[in-house]
Amino acid sequence: MKKIGVLTSGGDSPGMNPAIRAVVRKAIYHNVEVYGIYGGYSGLICGNIKKLELGSVGDIIHRGGTMLHSARCPEFKTKDVQLKGIEQLNVHGIEGLVVIGGDGSYRGAKALTEHGYPCVGVPGTIDNDIPGTELTIGFDTALNTVIDAVDKIRDTATSHERTFVIEVMGRDAGDIALWAGLAGGAETILIPEENYDMNEVADRLRKGQERGKKHSIIIVAEGVCSGVEFAKELQELTNFDTRVSVLGHMQRGGSPTAADRVLASRLGARAVELLIEGKGGRAVGIENNQLVDYDIVEALSRKHVLDLELFKLSKELSI
Ligand code: F6P
Repeated sequence: MKKIGVLTSGGDSPGMNPAIRAVVRKAIYHNVEVYGIYGGYSGLICGNIKKLELGSVGDIIHRGGTMLHSARCPEFKTKDVQLKGIEQLNVHGIEGLVVIGGDGSYRGAKALTEHGYPCVGVPGTIDNDIPGTELTIGFDTALNTVIDAVDKIRDTATSHERTFVIEVMGRDAGDIALWAGLAGGAETILIPEENYDMNEVADRLRKGQERGKKHSIIIVAEGVCSGVEFAKELQELTNFDTRVSVLGHMQRGGSPTAADRVLASRLGARAVELLIEGKGGRAVGIENNQLVDYDIVEALSRKHVLDLELFKLSKELSI
């Protein structure tokens, strides 16, 4: 393989830039040319493709976002559009593609693979919901952003003896809520993977208050319900002075943590190795700190599994 392409797609995540850098540098190290596809699958369809050099990825390792830009592209679900994408890659003589993104991006890569075009998926999403890897690029940075916010909210919550409901992202997965809740010492964590009982939540808060707790932090994953609605219901039931904070897209920005930069470098470089070895249709990941790769079709047929042991632990530690 002498020419490969790289694109980022779907919701951006901190660490996509170091992943792009790894793809470009690893490929050039092995005398393979690299082309950047700008604007995800939308950019692919309209041929927004430019050659990348070593210097094109200089000074991006510490930057959030993605220098290749990103987009959600629902049209890419249709076969005609996918074939148009392959046509564009062929026009430029690009023989294989690294796709950095989340679930939707993987589905695009899977479709191209099924049409016989070699793609390798690199998991880049803050949601940590991609099967075939224990960690996704951006999850650690997003968690640290959430923790920073939780710590700050805790200060004001204590001063005013308030209950705070903090809504975090994650789409249908509870990983951000769970890890941030555990790391931030939240009283209650609500995740889509587990049902909750409002009366039980209220009882826990009351007991905490009776023991002299000056504040309560409840982390709600967006996949459960809106933080605003939850807070309204809780306040009606308990009469606690409740405030809401929806962290929103700040969770997707910021300089990637060291852990995300290292993960992105390892996964990006491995994706290139696979293409050079002639192994398309793979999804790279990390398990027990070892690089792994799976058939992308098989990986997508599996379900991401949240660590329920952590959930149990968070309940035990927040009595
Ligand atoms: O998948 C990443 C993510 O940030 C989710 O956590 C969130 O539900 C979604 O993207 C938001 O998407 P958009 O930026 O398109 O509103």
